[in-house]
Amino acid sequence: PSRIETLVILGAGGDLTSRLLLPGLATLLASSRGSAIRLIGVDRDPMSDAAWQRRVGKAFSGVDARLADRVLESSVYLQADVTDAEALGRVLTAATGRVALFFALPPAVTVLACRTLATMKLPDGIVLAIEKPFGTDLASARALNRLLQKLVPEEQVFRVDHFLGKSTVINLLGLRFANRIFEPLLSAQNVAHVEVNIEEDLGLEGRAGYYDRAGALVDMIQSHLLLVLALATMEPPATVGSEDLRGAMAQLLRATRPWKKDGTESRRARYTAGTIGRRKLPAYLSEDGVDRSRNTETLAEMTVAIDNWRWAGVPFVLRSGKAIGDPRQEIVFTFRDVPHLPTGFHGPGRQARLRIGIKPATMSLDLVTNGRDDPFDLEWDTLDAEFGPSELKPYGEVLAELLDGDPTLSVRGDIAEECWRIVAPVLAAWRADRVPLDSYPAGTRGPRSWH
Ligand code: BG6
Repeated sequence: PSRIETLVILGAGGDLTSRLLLPGLATLLASSRGSAIRLIGVDRDPMSDAAWQRRVGKAFSGVDARLADRVLESSVYLQADVTDAEALGRVLTAATGRVALFFALPPAVTVLACRTLATMKLPDGIVLAIEKPFGTDLASARALNRLLQKLVPEEQVFRVDHFLGKSTVINLLGLRFANRIFEPLLSAQNVAHVEVNIEEDLGLEGRAGYYDRAGALVDMIQSHLLLVLALATMEPPATVGSEDLRGAMAQLLRATRPWKKDGTESRRARYTAGTIGRRKLPAYLSEDGVDRSRNTETLAEMTVAIDNWRWAGVPFVLRSGKAIGDPRQEIVFTFRDVPHLPTGFHGPGRQARLRIGIKPATMSLDLVTNGRDDPFDLEWDTLDAEFGPSELKPYGEVLAELLDGDPTLSVRGDIAEECWRIVAPVLAAWRADRVPLDSYPAGTRGPRSWH
């Protein structure tokens, strides 16, 4: 596919643009993969081209001055209502070469803008980048997919999930498929259970408008954790091109279901006031914009099964929460006991573990070794490795792929739907109050009863 020449950011005045998109773009431009791009900022409020260029320029520290100038000089700002066909027409006319539209907008506005695009003739090869959350449930994700199908072919839709842009998440592929030593072990024959933990020490951060309707299950597990699970457990693809890689992920997710079909093998909790390091966090319920009657969870856990030859019978526990003290971001494979421990050894009574850390990027292997004092008294040792950081921020990687017109690291439409299908029974069980809503003080590792 040919490269994108114009990147249009719809929602240029918004939080996503300044917090993630522009800094991500800066890391891309500062890297060996960066090249000139024309930026068009679009939003409802008036802004001069110069003010927009200043805003972009501020994010560009670290970028080679000549390249930064080239990008800035060609960048313009257009005031437009993106739900209006005439205004969107002006935006598309201002673009040159192949164009990508990045919807950095609330989901409901994105849908309205897409409906407007459906009434227009779109330039050839146009790429549409859609932010998460992709829909609010299975039915709305399906409807949005159907709408997008009317606009462009699937290969021209980028459903953004920045976890797929994290070098440490992509590293799962290299570790698994470019080494011989892990892959033969990763199956139900050897693995007793697996945990995917993505915890954060941040609280709500003023995002009640979105988060209070989503909660940890939808915000994190429905998207990021299920994609990480797919990369960690899928079959080896023949290529890492978009069809094979996403095909392997889709196949894995199609085989994935809640451990108990009714979704009750799950837990949820919400944080109360507490302290993390030196930060005092108020209780979730006392944050601005939180509606107590929604019963929103800030920590979610669900167990899934993967019904295929490799993984049948192994529980996978997916857990994600906010306001967690000493947060972990990791995938942990816990191995079964050895078939027979030679009599005479005193075992340490733990199972070997392989941990792949996502933040920070680490790998560690817990192993049994002979004791130093009494060789028949077994001990535990850990082999640790740390991986270097990537030069690109996750949004830099996402934008690199987007500008190359390569959708490999974006979420294919059927994958987005599978992710909603997998969490749907849990959402229903919680809505019907079949699973209690526990609580934990901010800064702890979750409710005491969970440990
Ligand atoms: C976002 C969620 O998608 O991912 C946030 O909406 C979460 O709630 C964030 O904090 C975590 O991403 P990262 O890159 O900070 O680990």
